[in-house]
Amino acid sequence: MSLEMKHVFYTYQEGSPAESHALQDICLNINEGEFLGIVGHTGSGKSTLIQHLNGLLKPSKGEVLIDGININQKEAKAQRKELRMRVGLVFQYPEYQLFEETVELDIGFGPRNMGLKESEVTARVQEAMALLKLDYKTLRKQSPFDLSGGQKRKVAIAGVLAMKPKYLVLDEPTAGLDPRGREEFLEQLQTLHQQGMTIIMVSHSMDDMARYAQRMIVMDHGQIQLEGKPHEIFSQPEKLLQIGLDVPSLTKLLLELKQRGLDVRTDLFEPEAVKDEIMRVIKEKDGRGIC
Ligand SMILES: Nc1ncnc2c1ncn2[C@@H]1O[C@H](COP(=O)(O)OP(=O)(O)OP(=O)(O)O)[C@@H](O)[C@H]1O
Ligand SMILES: [Mg+2]
Repeated sequence: MSLEMKHVFYTYQEGSPAESHALQDICLNINEGEFLGIVGHTGSGKSTLIQHLNGLLKPSKGEVLIDGININQKEAKAQRKELRMRVGLVFQYPEYQLFEETVELDIGFGPRNMGLKESEVTARVQEAMALLKLDYKTLRKQSPFDLSGGQKRKVAIAGVLAMKPKYLVLDEPTAGLDPRGREEFLEQLQTLHQQGMTIIMVSHSMDDMARYAQRMIVMDHGQIQLEGKPHEIFSQPEKLLQIGLDVPSLTKLLLELKQRGLDVRTDLFEPEAVKDEIMRVIKEKDGRGIC
């Protein structure tokens, strides 16, 4: 089972002077159980791409398949709603979409809309809140608007999780969170992944990608420029820098050491591996000093 994009093109405002070719020939297969990271600079097409995954946007050309079914074909009409619900989409700054009077009503909105019984809606709200470590008893009657930024965001994401999607797609979920909120959120996302959820995450942070993604795609001008495991992507730092992207901070440190004349590898990003590499080079220099 998978999400698949086959030769997808998408153009905004086709035929007008503001026409923008946001996606150009995207071919992508996301397998169930994966943690896929999507990076790329502003305007490279990341949000446009993920909005195709649940049928919110329809390709100008090409096909999008959810578990093997082309969601945009006429024959899938009867199934479309159910297919789209398999993919939970969390927009950037999802807290702006909170609107109900209480946390419980807000998280329950999706499941209630699916026509589930009240007892099932409550069970799903409790489960989703537990997954994100939101305390049901203390928060259920509170207004979502009175919560902190990080908690608002968790409530918004719990609303998506309560619909029990098979695939969870998040657009910059940590943007604007403080470092602690960010770390905590990513750890929870990792736990969801370990419990079997497929995660597709757009992020600007190469450090987060290095730590959590199993596979990455790098977007540039509406196309997938690089695709592979984080170590494969980060072993080509020059390519990333060339298209205006960063590398993980420890890779950057190695690049700087190399520039200063140290013969270090620059394709590493994990703390232990970087430490070992620096120690190796220092030992080789045998006390002759680094700089
Ligand atoms: N509603 C729209 N109308 C016209 N052009 C649009 C629209 N939304 C996006 N675009 C254009 O499509 C291209 C891709 O935009 P998109 O929002 O997918 O990029 P992104 O990678 O998500 O950027 P960011 O990192 O800033 O979120 C950009 O050139 C953008 O200007
Ligand atoms: Mg975007």
